[in-house]
Order: sequence, then C-alpha cells, then structure tokens
Amino acid sequence: MKAVVYEKYGAPQVLKVKNIQKPKPKDDELLVQIHAATVTSGDVRLRSSDFPLLFWLPARLIFGLFRPKKKILGHELAGIVVEIGKNVTEFKVGDSVFGTTTMLNTGSYAEYICIPQKWKNGVVELKPENLSYAEAAALPIGAMTAIYLLEKANLKSEQNVLVYGASGSVGSYAVQIANQKESRVKAVCSTSNFEMIKSLGAKSWMDYKKEDYYEGTEKFDIIFDAVGKTSKGKAKKVLKKGGAFVSVKMLTKEKDDHLKLIKDMAEKGTLKPFIDKSFKLDELVQAHEYVDKGRKRGNVVIEVLK
Ligand SMILES: NC(=O)c1ccc[n+]([C@@H]2O[C@H](COP(=O)([O-])OP(=O)(O)OC[C@H]3O[C@@H](n4cnc5c(N)ncnc54)[C@H](OP(=O)(O)O)[C@@H]3O)[C@@H](O)[C@H]2O)c1
Repeated sequence: MKAVVYEKYGAPQVLKVKNIQKPKPKDDELLVQIHAATVTSGDVRLRSSDFPLLFWLPARLIFGLFRPKKKILGHELAGIVVEIGKNVTEFKVGDSVFGTTTMLNTGSYAEYICIPQKWKNGVVELKPENLSYAEAAALPIGAMTAIYLLEKANLKSEQNVLVYGASGSVGSYAVQIANQKESRVKAVCSTSNFEMIKSLGAKSWMDYKKEDYYEGTEKFDIIFDAVGKTSKGKAKKVLKKGGAFVSVKMLTKEKDDHLKLIKDMAEKGTLKPFIDKSFKLDELVQAHEYVDKGRKRGNVVIEVLK
C-alpha cells in the first residue's frame, strides 16, 4: 500500500511517499481503508519537533529521542472497515467510520490502517451519515478539544463567550458549540476571516492585529484561547467574577461520548467542519508547507483515495 513516511524530524520534505506492507488486523482490530485524513497543527509540530523548550525533552522521550517512533503521521481519518479481527463486536465490514490515531504506533497518511475497536487514548465511531469522508475526517480532534474545554469551563446557556483565534480548527468548532447554547460569541481573528466566523454563528468580532480584547469594557463568562496565543493574566482583565479561562495549552482527553456527540450534532446540522484546502496523499509536502505557515482556516484535508 501507499503511505507517507518520515524517518527524521525536519522540514516538510522529510515526508516521503513509499510502498509498504498493508497491515493485518489483530483480534481486536479493524482494518480501515482510509478515504480521507487531515494535516493538524499537531502533525506539523511532531514532524518538525517544534516543542516548547520546557517540554522538548519529555516530548522527544515520548515521540522518539533521535528519530520519530511513529513513522507515519496523521491523527484523524475517515474510511471504510474492510476487515475485522475475530474479537471485534462494535463494527462490521462495510461500516463507514471516523476517528483518531492518538498514541497508536502508526497514523492516517496511508491507504490502510489497523485500529483497535477501543483503546485508552483515541476513539473511533460510525461516520456521520450526511457528511463526506473529507468532512468527517476534519471533525474529531478540533471538535473534541472544543467540547472538552467548554465542558471544563462549565458552559451554560446564554453566556458571553470570547473565542480567541476563532479561525483555526479548534476555534471554528468552539464558536459553533458555544453558539448552540445560545451564547453571545465574540470571535477574535483577522479581518479577512470575519465572513467565515459570521457564517459559523459568531455574534460579534474583533481583529487581534487592530485591538486588544483585554483592553475593552465588555466582560465575559468564558474566554477560550483556541490558538494558545493569549494568557490567563490578560483574560482576567475582562473575565466576569467566577468566569473561566481555558486554553488549548491545557491537557485534554479524547472521549467516546464526545465523538458520539459530534456525530449527532453533525447529523442534526448543528456542527459543520470548515475545510480550507484539500490535497492528495502525494501532495503531503505541500499540505505541511501550508499548515506550517500557521494561517490555516479551519481544517486541511488529505483525500487519500483521489
Ligand atoms: N490540547 C489539545 O488537545 C489540542 C488539540 C488540538 C489542537 N491543539 C493546539 O491548538 C492550537 C490551535 O490549533 P488549530 O489547528 O485549531 O488552529 P491552527 O490551525 O493552528 O490556527 C490557525 C489559525 O490561528 C489564527 N492565528 C494565528 N495567530 C493568531 C493570533 N496571534 N491571534 C489570533 N489568531 C491567530 C490564524 O488566523 P490569522 O491568519 O488570522 O492569524 C489561523 O486561522 C495549536 O497550537 C494546536 O497544537 C491542542
């Protein structure tokens, strides 16, 4: 099968298209033919080994000290189950699924992958029926992170919520999920992304290059840092008493229940992935070059079958 492999950390050019052995499912695994994957900000960080100084050594110990342990990147996928191990009860051949590859020893930049039906760090679920594979692949990590952090912030109805960095993947889902609770969502992003965040349900907006949200008079119940580029210290200036600050820098956890909720919201039409650009598997170097710029809007998809 075709896969994109990286043997060393570095620039996008370390990603090489190779022919490798198609995997065989173990007793508790599904063999999934991947139709679509994504390039997340986590993928480009792992490829370039761009970890904050304090976390550099622990991260390299987990992900590979001298060279990457997980040679195939790609943390999200959507595809069809083509074979199952003898102990698999939750899925059958022919099911369309979507999910993550978190902490598995291989990723979704490949034509096939084996995924356990259940494991500690990641999740797989039946794909939302109304979405394409490309759309479904763009949902799990960004939307689960948004749900986890909004739950941590104890989101209730009709609150004032500020989403800082609303045009990224996590931000675009946080705006939509807060909006479902009839919150008044204020989005902080570039002027060029105002139309995008309006279409996702934001009620007001502000360009971070022109104004500082923490210098205003408006107060918020929740400040959601969706790009890790603001701080609790700044947020405190405009948080209501008892308000919550949450950030993508916090540890989050992938939960089955959250992926089920995402499927449900997608099928009801209340959660939609924003797809910025699509690339083919052979174009992963270009896709990583694009995401490396830090300006992607929503999600970047890899159409593996094209
Ligand atoms: N904790 C977790 O489990 C978890 C999960 C997923 C992601 N993350 C982290 O969350 C972060 C965001 O990831 P993502 O994929 O959602 O988004 P992303 O693709 O990294 O964000 C890109 C967007 O951020 C905007 N942006 C860049 N600098 C900004 C600034 N200073 N202020 C406001 N907006 C800014 C860009 O818009 P402009 O062009 O307008 O600047 C662009 O639309 C990453 O650091 C990622 O590693 C954490």
